[in-house]
Amino acid sequence: MKFFIDTANLDQIKEAQDLGVLDGVTTNPSLMAKEGITGAENILQHYRDICEAVEGDVSAEVIATDYDGMVKQGEELAALNPQIVVKLPMIAAGVKACKYFSDKGIKTNVTLVFSVGQALLAAKAGATYVSPFLGRLDDISTDGLNLIEEIRLVYDNYGFKTQILAASIRNTMHVINCAKIGSDVMTGPLSSITGLLKHPLTDSGLAQFLADYAKGN
Ligand code: G3P
Repeated sequence: MKFFIDTANLDQIKEAQDLGVLDGVTTNPSLMAKEGITGAENILQHYRDICEAVEGDVSAEVIATDYDGMVKQGEELAALNPQIVVKLPMIAAGVKACKYFSDKGIKTNVTLVFSVGQALLAAKAGATYVSPFLGRLDDISTDGLNLIEEIRLVYDNYGFKTQILAASIRNTMHVINCAKIGSDVMTGPLSSITGLLKHPLTDSGLAQFLADYAKGN
């Protein structure tokens, strides 16, 4: 299972990278705005900085909602660095643009996916990643995990190569449950990764080991 961090915060990206378990980064316009990164040039530079900080795939989202605009922006993003994955919204123009980029061998991430049908379309268009938003479905009393389970079934039925990127992950249990049902990737905040470290028996056990070692030295 790949671990992506879902943030545009460089310090957090570096902290996750430093842990040695990070496979990539996902961003979106809201995450960029949260870090105060605004204006086309600053945003492009920020993507360059993120690519420098990590080794894996970095999803960079287009803002255009028409096909020509998506192709233009996606090509500009892809030219920044080979790590860039062009992130496209799940609308008709996004599906069409996804097909355009996948035919050209440029990696894509189809985002804002909330149904199996949408995930099927993304796979048909050759998406590298499909991003079902687990947390946002949970927010409206719908079973986000069930969606990921159903996408897994459909993709496995036909051998689609599109990787399921569980997005809108909010906590460690989301990560663990996605791992149990075979999500290829998860993307979440730093806390959803570092939270996996925690267990009180690890802490008390280590304290005891160190105390016992100190007795003999
Ligand atoms: O990767 C998608 C993600 O950024 C959305 O997360 O927490 O805003 O639903 P959230």
